[in-house]
Amino acid sequence: MMDYLVTGGAGYIGGHFVDTVAKKSDVAVIDDFSTGHYVCKYARIIKADLRNMVPKIGNVRVLMHFAANPDVKGSMHDIKSHYERDVTATLNALELARKSDAETIVFASSSTVYGYAKKVPTPEESPFAPVSGYGLFKAMGENLVSYYSMSYGIRSISLRFANIIGGRTGHGIIYNYAKWIKEGKPLEVWGDGNQKKSYVYVHDLIDAIHISIKEAGKGYSVFNVGNKDQTRVNEIIEIFEDVAGKRFRIKRKDSQEGDVRNFLLDSTKLRKLGWKPKYNSSEAVRQAVIEILKDA
Ligand SMILES: NC(=O)c1ccc[n+]([C@@H]2O[C@H](COP(=O)([O-])OP(=O)(O)OC[C@H]3O[C@@H](n4cnc5c(N)ncnc54)[C@H](O)[C@@H]3O)[C@@H](O)[C@H]2O)c1
Repeated sequence: MMDYLVTGGAGYIGGHFVDTVAKKSDVAVIDDFSTGHYVCKYARIIKADLRNMVPKIGNVRVLMHFAANPDVKGSMHDIKSHYERDVTATLNALELARKSDAETIVFASSSTVYGYAKKVPTPEESPFAPVSGYGLFKAMGENLVSYYSMSYGIRSISLRFANIIGGRTGHGIIYNYAKWIKEGKPLEVWGDGNQKKSYVYVHDLIDAIHISIKEAGKGYSVFNVGNKDQTRVNEIIEIFEDVAGKRFRIKRKDSQEGDVRNFLLDSTKLRKLGWKPKYNSSEAVRQAVIEILKDA
């Protein structure tokens, strides 16, 4: 039996997960290489597009579903193609899990399912109120996962990630700022730059994934994965300037639809299972900036 079948395993987070298991277990990756291009030499790589049903490869212990289009802003304008990558692909991944007799399914969900949450820090019991197509599709994905768990008795875990940074990141604020610095462009700030969010270093996220696979109970479980502190956009710019030792030009833009200005997840449930992130949010930003400027 295969240990892990990882959809989106050529992507940023999926690739980091694969790196932690591929040397010591039997791992296969399914990816269409639309945004991810990482190839772990210890894993079996299957090029396939999950918008179509993928034939069974063999029986699987854990199916990890990372494949998606993670572009939140893009999902506001091109809703149909995002639906296919985020919802149709999730249904096809779940069908594959069912046909492969998977014991456990792990779904990469997101804090965006909460939208402008009334309660901050936001616990898992808070209602779905997404304000982007992306958040809506993650909520729909979770409902699909929960349905498969209940109907077919597959132990399943939805993990609602905060913003994940560090390592080979290929999108998000840290990536964009490093890219604009390299291109000599000003750093774009949406609104006043005081929006505050929580960031998690990618290796801390991978630890959270392993802990949830090991410690979650039977049936369907949901965990938030976030730090306890928040980092403002203006502070991220200060960290870039501090690490680079120079000032950068700023270009102010209007606030963007779908951009949640204040988010903080309550991750008590996961911490009770033993998750202890090495970096808090601002430390994670600093570490990610150090790494990305070194590579630039
Ligand atoms: N990065 C974050 O901060 C963050 C936060 C919350 C949730 N997530 C979720 O975590 C998961 C991984 O995100 P990431 O940041 O690594 O993104 P990523 O774009 O690097 O990885 C996604 C991978 O899925 C693949 N893919 C996309 N559509 C596919 C399809 N139809 N068939 C097969 N492969 C397909 C891409 O080629 C890519 O390798 C996604 O589900 C994302 O929504 C990410």
